[in-house]
Amino acid sequence: MIFPVDKIRAFFPSVSRPNAPIFFDNPAGSQVPYSVMDAFSEYFTVMNANQGGTFATSKMTDTMMHNARQKVADFLGATNPDEIVFGANMTTLAFSLSRSLAQTMKAGDEIILTRMDHDANVAPWLRIAEDHGFIVRWVDINLEDCTLDLNTLEGALNDRTKLVATVHCSNAVGTLNPVAQISQMAHAAGALCVVDAVQSAPHVPIDVLALGCDFLLCSAYKFFGPHVGILWGRYDLLESLPAYKVRPAKDYSPYRWETGTPNFEGIFAVGSTIDYIEKIGQDYCMAYSDQFSAYTDRAKSLKMGMEGIRQYEKTLISRLLNVLEGTSGIQIFGITDRTRFDERCPTVVFIHDKYTPHEIAQHFAKHDIYVWDGNYYAVEIMARLGHTEHGMVRVGLAHYNTLAEIDRFGEVLRQLMDGTEDDNRADLSDDSHSDDSHSDDSHSEEASSLAGGINPFDGIPTVSLEASKVRHEFVNYFVFHLKVYFVSIKGYAGIYHSMPQHWDDKFMQVISQNAEKAMNYADDARVYCRAEALNHDDLLP
Ligand SMILES: Cc1ncc(COP(=O)(O)O)c(C=O)c1O
Repeated sequence: MIFPVDKIRAFFPSVSRPNAPIFFDNPAGSQVPYSVMDAFSEYFTVMNANQGGTFATSKMTDTMMHNARQKVADFLGATNPDEIVFGANMTTLAFSLSRSLAQTMKAGDEIILTRMDHDANVAPWLRIAEDHGFIVRWVDINLEDCTLDLNTLEGALNDRTKLVATVHCSNAVGTLNPVAQISQMAHAAGALCVVDAVQSAPHVPIDVLALGCDFLLCSAYKFFGPHVGILWGRYDLLESLPAYKVRPAKDYSPYRWETGTPNFEGIFAVGSTIDYIEKIGQDYCMAYSDQFSAYTDRAKSLKMGMEGIRQYEKTLISRLLNVLEGTSGIQIFGITDRTRFDERCPTVVFIHDKYTPHEIAQHFAKHDIYVWDGNYYAVEIMARLGHTEHGMVRVGLAHYNTLAEIDRFGEVLRQLMDGTEDDNRADLSDDSHSDDSHSDDSHSEEASSLAGGINPFDGIPTVSLEASKVRHEFVNYFVFHLKVYFVSIKGYAGIYHSMPQHWDDKFMQVISQNAEKAMNYADDARVYCRAEALNHDDLLP
């Protein structure tokens, strides 16, 4: 199956905008499609109210919450929407769960954690161990390929073990762990299994029943959605565990876990995020239909969509490893064996024998390639691998990234290694580091002609583009939110190059005068963008 990455990119304004940077910081937070952004306006326009009231908007919010739970349940392979709990983020939900589970344990009981986990699935358990006198044991990692050493899990389990907390996919080395096996081992010892799926959710189909765990946590901003945390739990446990709640709140799941007023607009946008993945499954991934014959309807489309993403990302991992392995002085941590890509996600970490991770990340940042450095809160594995001080460089890919972006990454890496500068850099990144030389008057002229002689910025001096940040905000705001007042995106492209330095009164006046017109053209502009497969470079003069 050919994954239509150009079409996919067209859904993401931040990715497909002119001179967009290369987003390889995805494990820290993914980019978001239009539809998810639009959900926020839609919620506030149509159904903004608290839940549980007698009037229309409140009832709509109730229905929306139920629908969002159903969508997330389908995404995670759960059968009951009331097993889906929304919260601020994964970490907050993990602390809440740990505090509750602690009430069911006694001093001397044991908890097993892994050296691979993000601290969000470590610190909450360490904290209750400290508070209540529980014993903590650790699952080690195999240093040669950064997989979990399940022998150490076997050795740690005993009849006092009450809980095994493990990560599905490492946010550092990218290893995808055999969670079904871990759950089975935990259950055989009479323990519960809590899974952190924050980094697997953007990359692989998830099925909580197949994984066999008792709780699973993830976070929508890692899978192309807003900042909303998600906890799935077995219904009997969500019902029976002591939840910390205010007295008047409903005492049944999921409400007993959702402290305070939920982030309704964000949750509505989570639903849109699931719709987006469903659409990928329906439109582009029918090839995987047979593989998921056990599922129906939305659940099936979601699995197909995630499988399409997973398979496409394997091509990205391979290209990235080729680049890194072809660069002297680099050491990669994690699975590199091309036959074992089912055991990893497209998150790759490395160090270099001459440059620190921070220096490398800074070099890439200068070239508009966003990678992470440090420990990304995966403190245990960094310590275990002996890299606590500087951490590592992390390149985290997503399904909207391309092979061309990886090739560009390779070029920029080579420049650092060779000590050469990039002559082509301006082509890719000048607009975020621009200077006067780029405020090219020919663009302004073209803007006028493209817009049928109308230039709303007439009289506003065309100035240096030092205010690139403002300009980028303008790009987003004007094109993708307020949309354009010009009769076409091509007209807009001219404006882009003649941005005024300050978003001053006159500029605001022009915007407000034309806002109404812009709104009328909004949908046309968007349809146009999408229809053009959003090759924005072509839209620019
Ligand atoms: C594996 C993993 N678990 C947990 C978290 C924490 O998630 P949140 O930011 O939703 O609390 C992260 C964040 O990067 C993560 O990568």
